[in-house]
Amino acid sequence: MRSLINYIIPAVAGISLLSCSKNDSDAFIDDLMSRMTLEEKIGQLNLPVGGDIQSGVVLGPQLDSLILEGSIGGFFNVKGVEEISRLQHLAVEKGPHGIPLLVGADVVHGYETIFPIPLALSCSWDSVAVERMAHISAIEATADGVNWNFSPMVDICRDPRWGRIAEGSGEDPYLGSILAKAYVRGYQGDNMKSDSTLMACVKHFALYGATEGGRDYNTVDMSKERMFNYYLPPFQATVDAGVGSLMSSFNLINGQHATAAKWLLNDVLRDDWEFQGLIATDYNSIPEVSTMGTSAMEDAAANALNAGTDMDMVSGLYVKTLADAVKRGLVKEKTIDDACRRVLEAKQKLGLFDDPYKYCNEERAKGDIFTPAHRDMAREIAAQTFVLMKNDNNILPLKKRGRIALIGPLADAANNMCGCWSMLAKTENHESLLTAFRNAVGNEAEILYAKGSNVYYDETTQKNATGLRRIEHTGDDAGLHAEALLVAAQSDVIVAAIGESSDMSGESASRTEITIPDTQRDLLKKLVNTGKPVVLLLFTGRPLVLDWESENVTSILNVWFGGSEAGDAIADVVFGGKSPQGKLTTTFPRSVGQVPLYYNHLMSSHPDPQEGVFNRYCSNYIDCSNEPLYPFGYGLSYTTFEYGKPQLSSTTLERDGTVTLSVEIKNTGDYDGVEIVQMYLRDPVAQIARPVKELKDFRRVYIPKGGKKRVEFTIDAEKLKYYNADLEYVYDPGEFRVMVGPDSENLQTLTFTAK
Ligand code: NOJ
Repeated sequence: MRSLINYIIPAVAGISLLSCSKNDSDAFIDDLMSRMTLEEKIGQLNLPVGGDIQSGVVLGPQLDSLILEGSIGGFFNVKGVEEISRLQHLAVEKGPHGIPLLVGADVVHGYETIFPIPLALSCSWDSVAVERMAHISAIEATADGVNWNFSPMVDICRDPRWGRIAEGSGEDPYLGSILAKAYVRGYQGDNMKSDSTLMACVKHFALYGATEGGRDYNTVDMSKERMFNYYLPPFQATVDAGVGSLMSSFNLINGQHATAAKWLLNDVLRDDWEFQGLIATDYNSIPEVSTMGTSAMEDAAANALNAGTDMDMVSGLYVKTLADAVKRGLVKEKTIDDACRRVLEAKQKLGLFDDPYKYCNEERAKGDIFTPAHRDMAREIAAQTFVLMKNDNNILPLKKRGRIALIGPLADAANNMCGCWSMLAKTENHESLLTAFRNAVGNEAEILYAKGSNVYYDETTQKNATGLRRIEHTGDDAGLHAEALLVAAQSDVIVAAIGESSDMSGESASRTEITIPDTQRDLLKKLVNTGKPVVLLLFTGRPLVLDWESENVTSILNVWFGGSEAGDAIADVVFGGKSPQGKLTTTFPRSVGQVPLYYNHLMSSHPDPQEGVFNRYCSNYIDCSNEPLYPFGYGLSYTTFEYGKPQLSSTTLERDGTVTLSVEIKNTGDYDGVEIVQMYLRDPVAQIARPVKELKDFRRVYIPKGGKKRVEFTIDAEKLKYYNADLEYVYDPGEFRVMVGPDSENLQTLTFTAK
């Protein structure tokens, strides 16, 4: 009780910390810290993992004793408000000074109502949808006791071999920045005072998406020009949006561990970008500062702290070694004080000192999670993320008539609809595609089903690929293929629900062959050989190589992993209730050998003058074109859009002025639809080479069938800027090209001169 009084005093004395001035809150933290021992301050920097949810190899210690000792500032991976509430009560009522705890979790694309994976969400190009999904995630997570979310993940990625490409917004820094801000707004709201918002934690700082060879946790070596122009902008955008915390990454950057890189955490993030929040490590990163060769083990914690890291996730090395590091002169007490203050400030921003139990309302847990309204929103948003890549003879949408064969190992796998960060989901409450299809057609058509194949021929590979979300390996693929052909023979059209299983992307899920797995691809070939129309419903968490598929199947609808409501959302689109509107935010290569392949590349030496023909002494491949299979920004609709001739308000951009580009778009097809109109810029001559094109703006426009809309883009000097070799943010006067169109390859170009 003594400690409870300690934090309650300001509120009791009429100085609610929710409304108090900066001076009051500084005074509150000063006073609290003046009563804390060095060990207790270090305790605030400790972030152990609880036991319920596993998101790494090291398991959790006994939290109770850490709480009573005061050697813990927060914990994560404990599920359920009852247990979280018990731990919070323990900290507040029995822990030294009654300091409440941060309670973290990875609520990356939903809590129990699961939304599409972030890569899919980005294909909606819809910041409002992203903000809504983040807001709903916050409502559900806080109802269950969580106050700190390890999201958004804003790593730019140009390498689809990396499984974690699924967790981010793709390859483009401009779109990535817009969506990054939307996540933060959705999680944190206007401030973090409400009991249904939480603190966001942007991750992984930095460059994790550029891991060598696409192998998870691998090294990164990158020029500063590349970092600042392409990889860091989404992080800076979240700092500008007021993100409360940041997680450093697992990787080396140019030989330094990100967790102990002072230039990155202190100089760039805190000094240049003026980030005021809390920095935590990733899972057990501090000992890795040593094992990855950049510090002796006994100095790793000191090096991380001195670089700017406040909280130690999982390793416990801060608690074990920092007090001694002070004695050894490696660390100043002031540095520990600063870090401790940032942890306490985070708790204060969340309002935990005013009401430490604000997230411990068991009634909310009963009423606010997996609600019909949240699920409706998830269904709505999922349908926005699907990308129609091919649709010969307008085979989609399917008519609800006759017999429809639904075939594939993902057709009746309700537990595999969610994708990477869905360990909090209760998949037993989800519906499979098969059930959703049957519900959608009712008595109007017949849905015939066959599993068709395993995920992989090899049982062990399948086990590795379907870790948490098992799909049983049922042996005999030849038999499964044959059964599928019998079902196909009785049907008018075949829908193949195949691709990656849920656990084949996300953390620790790198692949070298990014094709549809072997037996499923063979199944697909046999289905195509029947001569019947085949719709490929592609489940995937990354771009796949679809060279054969793009030539041979009738239609491809990429549904990614659409979340808990994916079944109904897919049925909505397949049967024409909604038209597809997603556009790719990551390039689909023709061959894994082209990787990294991305639209905003620099000009090569010896450019290939004649695409599709091999030219010696040109920058190309003997055995493959340079072009992607499906480019960034690409996606079809059930309707068609026609772009008029774009116009510029002026061909001169004055230093402080603007130029407007406008273009008219007509819906010339038979459906209402949404078009994502994209504007790109190119600076042909600059201080350092600039990309052949860079996305600089876009609009999502709804155009009813037969209708038209004029879309306008404003260009100002800000849009022309980049980081030069001295990392100055500049633009170079001269000629610029501006391009507009439906994707990054299908563009009309105009030029203007910037003064
Ligand atoms: C490791 C992952 O890299 C990170 O994204 C996640 O937040 C932590 N584990 C905690 O689960």
